[in-house]
Amino acid sequence: MTTTGRVEEALVDRREIVNEAITEQLPIQKPERLYSASRYLLDAGGKRLRPTILLLAAEAISDVEPMSADYREFPSPVNGDVDVLSAAVSIEVIQSFTLIHDDIMDDDDLRRGVPAVHREYDLETAILAGDTLYSKAFEYMLDTGAPAEKSVEALDELATTCTEICEGQALDVDFEERTDVSTDEYLEMVEFKTAVLYAAAASIPAILLGSDEETVSELHGYGLDIGRAFQIQDDLLDLTASSEQLGKQRGSDLIEGKRTIITLHARNNGVDVDTLVSEDPTDEEIEQAVQTLEDAGSIDFAREMAQDLVESGKDRLEVLPENEPRELLEEIADYLVERGY
Ligand code: IPE
Ligand code: IPE
Ligand code: MG
Ligand code: MG
Ligand code: MG
Repeated sequence: MTTTGRVEEALVDRREIVNEAITEQLPIQKPERLYSASRYLLDAGGKRLRPTILLLAAEAISDVEPMSADYREFPSPVNGDVDVLSAAVSIEVIQSFTLIHDDIMDDDDLRRGVPAVHREYDLETAILAGDTLYSKAFEYMLDTGAPAEKSVEALDELATTCTEICEGQALDVDFEERTDVSTDEYLEMVEFKTAVLYAAAASIPAILLGSDEETVSELHGYGLDIGRAFQIQDDLLDLTASSEQLGKQRGSDLIEGKRTIITLHARNNGVDVDTLVSEDPTDEEIEQAVQTLEDAGSIDFAREMAQDLVESGKDRLEVLPENEPRELLEEIADYLVERGY
C-alpha cells in the first residue's frame, strides 16, 4: 500500500470511531435548535485529523498494535485505564467551535460542503453553538478517568490552547489592515490560530497516560511544527483547489485580504497583492492570480517552508518507541502537506 493509502486508511478507521463517540457524547437535546446547530458541522464531515493524531499518539506511547485496544479503556503504562476517546472527541469539538466562529469572522458561506452554521441557522445561534461546543470540550476532557493530577494538566493544556487560538485569530484579523507583516509574525500567528490545537492533540494523550516530560514536550513540538505546515498547505489549497474539493470557498483568503506566507513572499517580490482579484472573482481571475504568485516563486517558497516544518516535526517522534503508530504519525505529517483537500 502507498504511504498516502495507509494514512487514509488510518484516518477512515479512526474517523468512524470518533464519529460514533461524538453521536454518543453530544446528543441532540433541548433546546433542540442549539444542539442541532452544535452538531450540524460535526455531522457534515471533516477529516478528523486532530483526533486521529491524538489516538495514534496514545497507541504509539502505549506501544500497542494499531486499533487493537479499546479507546474507552485504554491501557496506560502507569495510570490504569484512560478513556482517550473522550479526549479525542474534546479536541474535535474544539475544532468545530473554531470553525463556526472562524466562518463568521471570515464572512465565509460554505464549510464542509454545506452552508456555514451562521448561514444555515443565524448569527445568534452560530455564536451560541460555538460557545456550547467550547465548554462541552472541557467536560469531555474531564471525563477520561485519568488520575486527577493528570486531568488537571490536560485541562490546563486545553485552556491555554483555546486562549492562544483566540490570540492567533485576533492577529489574523489585525493583519488584514497591515501591509508590513513579516514572515516571523505570520509564523507566530499560525502557531497560535492553528498549530497549538495539533500540539494539544499530540501531547494530551502523553499527559493523560503519564508519559515523562520529554515525551510530552516532544509531542507538543511535533504538533506545533506539523500544525504550521498544515496551515501553510491550507493557505496553498485556498488558491489551488476547487470549492468542491475543499468544501469551502476557493480564493476566500484573497478576497478577504488575508496575509498568508504566499502573499507575504509575493509582496516582497514586487507583486501588488491587494489588487490580485476583485470582490467576487471568477475562477479565471483566481487562476490568473495563482499564475502571478507562481511566477513570483511564492507558491514554491511556501511549499518548501511547509516541507521543512514537516521534517522538523517528524524528527521529534524519535522520543516514541519504534512501532507502527509512530510510523503512521510520521506519514500523517507528510500527508498534511501532500493532501489535495
Ligand atoms: C480547517 O481545518 C481549519 C484550519 C485550521 C485551516 P481542517 O482542514 O482540518 O478542517 P476539517 O476539520 O477537515 O473540516
Ligand atoms: C482558521 O484558519 C484557523 C482556525 C482557528 C479555524 P482559516 O481561516 O484559514 O481556516 P479556513 O480556511 O477557513 O478553514
Ligand atoms: Mg476561515
Ligand atoms: Mg480565518
Ligand atoms: Mg484557510
